[in-house]
Parts: sequence; C-alpha cells; structure tokens
Amino acid sequence: MRAIVYDSYGPPDVLQLREVADPAAGQTDVLVRVRAAAANPLDWYAFTGTPLVVRPGFGLRKPDGARLGADLAGVVDAVGKDVTRFKPGDEVFGTGKGSFAELVVVVQEGAIVAKPANLSFEEAAAVPVAGLTALQGLRDKGGARAGQQVLINGAAGGVGTFAVQIAKTFDTEVTAVCSTRNVGLIRSLGADRVIDYTSQDFTRDSGRYDLVLDIAGSRPWSELKRVLRRDATVVIIGGPKASRMFGPIGHLFGTALASLPSSQKATVFISKEGADDLNTLRGMIEAGKLEPVVEKTYPLSQVPEAMTYLGTGHVRGKLVITI
Ligand SMILES: NC(=O)c1ccc[n+]([C@@H]2O[C@H](COP(=O)([O-])OP(=O)(O)OC[C@H]3O[C@@H](n4cnc5c(N)ncnc54)[C@H](OP(=O)(O)O)[C@@H]3O)[C@@H](O)[C@H]2O)c1
Repeated sequence: MRAIVYDSYGPPDVLQLREVADPAAGQTDVLVRVRAAAANPLDWYAFTGTPLVVRPGFGLRKPDGARLGADLAGVVDAVGKDVTRFKPGDEVFGTGKGSFAELVVVVQEGAIVAKPANLSFEEAAAVPVAGLTALQGLRDKGGARAGQQVLINGAAGGVGTFAVQIAKTFDTEVTAVCSTRNVGLIRSLGADRVIDYTSQDFTRDSGRYDLVLDIAGSRPWSELKRVLRRDATVVIIGGPKASRMFGPIGHLFGTALASLPSSQKATVFISKEGADDLNTLRGMIEAGKLEPVVEKTYPLSQVPEAMTYLGTGHVRGKLVITI
C-alpha cells in the first residue's frame, strides 16, 4: 500500500509517499481502507519532533513508527475473527494511527464508529480529533450550560469551528474571536457575536464570560482575566508554538499556574479518543446541528503541502487528505 513515511524529524519535506507492506488485522482488529484523512496540529508536532521537551514520546533520536495521521474515514476491508461490531463494507470514521495511508488497523474497541450518513468521506474525516476536543472541552471540562456567556478564542480553525456550533447546542450565548477573513463564516456557524482580533481587543471589550475556550492561546492570564465573571472557567486547549523547546506547553501550564490565586479557574485540557463521543458527534451531525468546515483537500502525494499550510496556524476549518 502507499503511505506517508518519515525517517527523520524536520520540515514538511521529510514526509515521503512510499510503498510499504500492507498491515494485517489481528483477532480483535478492524482493517480500514482509508478514503480520507485530516490534518491536525498533533501531526505537525509528530514529524517536526517539537516541542523538544515531548520528543521522547515520539522517539528520541529518530521517529518511532514514523507513520503520520490520526483522523480517518473509510470502509472496513477485513476484520479479525473475534470482531463482532464491524463487518467488511461498513463505512466508518474515527481515529487510527498512521491514517495518511491506504490501509489502517484499528482495534474494534478503539475510536471508530459508523460514518454519519449525511457526510462524504472527506467531510467525515474532518470531524474526529477537532470535534472530540471541542465537545469534551465545552461539556466535560467547561461544564457548559444554558444561558452562559461563552467566549471561543481561535474560532476559525479545526477545533474552533466545531466549538462554536457545539456551544450553541448547549443554548449558550457565543462570542467568537477570529481574523477578518473568517468573520462571515463564524457568524454563519451560529456565533451570536464575532470579534475580529485584527481590529478589536476582546480583553478590552465590555463582554464578560462564564466560560472561555482558549484554543488560540494568544493572550496571557493577566489580560484574559479582565473579561471573566467571578466564577468563570477557562479551558486551555492550545497555545502558540513559538518556543522550539516547550511549544504550547509553556502557555498551557503557565496560564493554569498564574490563575491559581484567582476565584476563576483556568484548566489545561487534553481530549480523549473514544467511540461514545464519536457517536455523540455523529448524532449532532445527522440531526443537522453540526457540520464540518473543510477549507481544502489534498491528494496523499501532497501531504507536505498540506502540512506547510497547517504550520501557518491560519487554516480555516480543516484540511483533508483524499486517498
Ligand atoms: N488539548 C487538546 O486535546 C487539543 C486537541 C486538538 C488541538 N489542540 C491545540 O489547539 C490549537 C488549535 O488546534 P486547531 O486544530 O484548531 O488548529 P488550526 O486548525 O490550525 O487552527 C488555528 C486557528 O487559530 C486561529 N488563530 C491564529 N492566531 C489567532 C489569534 N491571535 N487569535 C485568535 N485566533 C487565532 C486561526 O484563525 P485566523 O486565521 O482567523 O487567525 C486558525 O483558524 C493547537 O494549539 C492545537 O495543538 C489541542
């Protein structure tokens, strides 16, 4: 099969499309023929081997495994003899290690479920990591509930475009922060107010919030706390990758630490992959309450180009790889 492979850490041109051996499904595994995959900042960290502080997790001197991609949508090709939940021909979406490839093996109890009936493979592949992060960040870590004022900083990217829509399903009042070119899109996704950060500083605005989903991580705690209500929660999801050593980690834990003396709570959040929440997202999609935003699709041979664009930090919604 063809797969994206990398032998060393570096810029996107370390990523090569190669012929590799087909994987085989073990007794409890599902072999998925990938029709589409999607790019996430996590993929960027994996092949660049940054931030350096987490490199041991990817392989200290050179990458372990060296297959890229997590999000996928495809068709079950074969199943192990103990698999009961899936059968060949089922259309699925979810996550699998090394999804920038023609075939991926996922354990049957892993994070794959039936594909939303109303989405193409390209659209479905855009959902898992970003959708799960938005859902769990708002619902589980943020405790989103009806009537709250919610601010989403970084609304135009993968996580943000899902977060705006999911926050509205909780009947919250949503203020979203993005750049000029994305204002119309974010309004069309249901945001009640949109702040263009290129001309307006939300930390100097009159809005006060019960819950902030900080996806962009563009502001320090000292500025963020100006717009928080007394018992507000800030869910810290991402941050700038400026430092090669610490990447976003400095912002994530620095913010949480700085908030300790305050009545408001800032908490770092890492999403979990899981079938139950994928089914929740599928339900929202099939009910017409949630739709993925796909800015651009690339063939498998152009993963380096997709990653170069992802690295700018200004993708609108998701970038999808078609296979
Ligand atoms: N904690 C977790 O479990 C988890 C899971 C997934 C992702 N993440 C992290 O969350 C972050 C975002 O992920 P993503 O997938 O949404 O990334 P993405 O798709 O690359 O989106 C980045 C978005 O950030 C916006 N942005 C850039 N600078 C901004 C600023 N100063 N103010 C407001 N918005 C700004 C951009 O919109 P404009 O073009 O309009 O500026 C862009 O759409 C990354 O740091 C990622 O590592 C964390």
